Amino acid sequence: MSNFRDFDRLFRLDDKVALVTGGSRGLGLHAATAFLRAGAAKVIITARKTGGPEGINQAVEKLNNITGIKGHAIGIPANVSSEAEIVRLVKAVEKEAGKLDILVANAGATWGSKFEDAPDHATSKILDVNVRGVFLLAQKFAPMLQASGTRRDPSRIIIVSSTAGKNVPHVGENGTIMYSVSKAAAHHLGRNLAIELGPSNITTNIVAPGFFPSKLASGLIEKLGGTSELEDANPRKRLGEPEDIAGVMVYLCSPAGSYINGVDIAVDGGMVLGAGRHSKL
Ligand SMILES: NC(=O)c1ccc[n+]([C@@H]2O[C@H](COP(=O)([O-])OP(=O)(O)OC[C@H]3O[C@@H](n4cnc5c(N)ncnc54)[C@H](OP(=O)(O)O)[C@@H]3O)[C@@H](O)[C@H]2O)c1
Repeated sequence: MSNFRDFDRLFRLDDKVALVTGGSRGLGLHAATAFLRAGAAKVIITARKTGGPEGINQAVEKLNNITGIKGHAIGIPANVSSEAEIVRLVKAVEKEAGKLDILVANAGATWGSKFEDAPDHATSKILDVNVRGVFLLAQKFAPMLQASGTRRDPSRIIIVSSTAGKNVPHVGENGTIMYSVSKAAAHHLGRNLAIELGPSNITTNIVAPGFFPSKLASGLIEKLGGTSELEDANPRKRLGEPEDIAGVMVYLCSPAGSYINGVDIAVDGGMVLGAGRHSKL
């Protein structure tokens, strides 16, 4: 028999403090929900909007109403494409929580159009949120993450990228060239951070989702033929679901993932591996 330390806590996040950018809806809200359900003490979500049906406040309320959780959620508004806002966010997290164990850089921006029509302001926004902002988040939160990480239980950075960072998903009418480029950069940023910050007891990994219904993705899902067409093209015959994000986040951020550093995990049913058209055998 093998002796495992604390096997019962292998997928638990008790006492952990997590920050999820873009936590007010979509994949970020799935991650925040999963962290609280896995025992996290505090989950801080950030986004730009506070009020309304998509703002931070309604998300915090939903999170704090989850039955059976020991921890709680806090919302701190910030624009994570601005250095000044990130510096302010670091101070606010320090004040609210006193420490940080998990940073999920999830907030993202995209733009879809013909190559000829893609405006420069969209390129700037995409690169600012998906690449520059992620680098700044890691840089400014590194001291707090280092302070709470240990050799056996490192602090975690998760970069939510996309399978669009691994292949060329959409050109032509609904092209997303600079989004795809930004996500490829996010992957390589994650690999660099893994080597840079690993010795400081901080691991960095990349989660690369395929299609999950969300505000960001739903327009493109429709333009590409709708849910059932995309489901049919997927080896697993479905799109992503909230539990798929919960599983990978809890794995990477719990003791089970403590020796994983610098990897990217596609959460897409294997879709990214397919090339060309496959006949139905
Ligand atoms: N859904 C998919 O199919 C899919 C596939 C691959 C990758 N992804 C990636 O997954 C991540 C989340 O996407 P999602 O589909 O969940 O999108 P979403 O539902 O549109 O949510 C985006 C979140 O990011 C926040 N946000 C956007 N810009 C921000 C900024 N500058 N500063 C702070 N917060 C900001 C939004 O809130 P505010 O608007 O209030 O700021 C919102 O909370 C993105 O990185 C995306 O590229 C998604």
